[in-house]
Amino acid sequence: MRGWLLGFHLIGVILWMGGLMTFSRILGYHTKEAPSARPRLSFIEGRLNALVTIPGMVLTIAFGLWLISFYGAHWFSVARWMHYKLVLVSAVLFIHIFLTIKQRQIQRQSPSDKLNRALYAALHGTIGLLMIGIVLLATLQPMK
Ligand code: HEM
Repeated sequence: MRGWLLGFHLIGVILWMGGLMTFSRILGYHTKEAPSARPRLSFIEGRLNALVTIPGMVLTIAFGLWLISFYGAHWFSVARWMHYKLVLVSAVLFIHIFLTIKQRQIQRQSPSDKLNRALYAALHGTIGLLMIGIVLLATLQPMK
């Protein structure tokens, strides 16, 4: 059972992190594109988020929570690395929600409006750093 839950958790992680890194990168490129190309990029961003990144997020969280309930309340209460991991995961989730809101705003506004490239570059880098922290907490499991 544990193998199945962990397997689907990790499939979700690959889709979520891969999708989110790509989503934030394309939003960065979007800011430099000619207005004529922007509606097409908005379409690609929306499809990527709806078909890959959001399903990856749902799989990761659902199977992660299922793993916790499978291991039980005592396991969770002593797994301090997991508590830190959940704080970092919350930050990733917050950035994902923020980027989703921004992408929908950009899709609605005029293609010639000025966009903030530095914001998307900074968020892309932050997601990468959070991902490194989360994976190392999960694999090294310090403070056990
Ligand atoms: C709400 C979100 C999440 C929950 C509840 C959760 C929960 C868990 C649990 C309970 C395990 C099993 C630990 C063990 O067997 O000792 C696990 C493993 C793992 N998680 Fe998550 N996780 C979440 C999000 C993530 C994210 C976003 C990533 C990556 C960026 C991630 C990466 C991993 C990895 C790499 C493992 C394998 C660790 C190993 O067995 O060596 N998790 N997670």
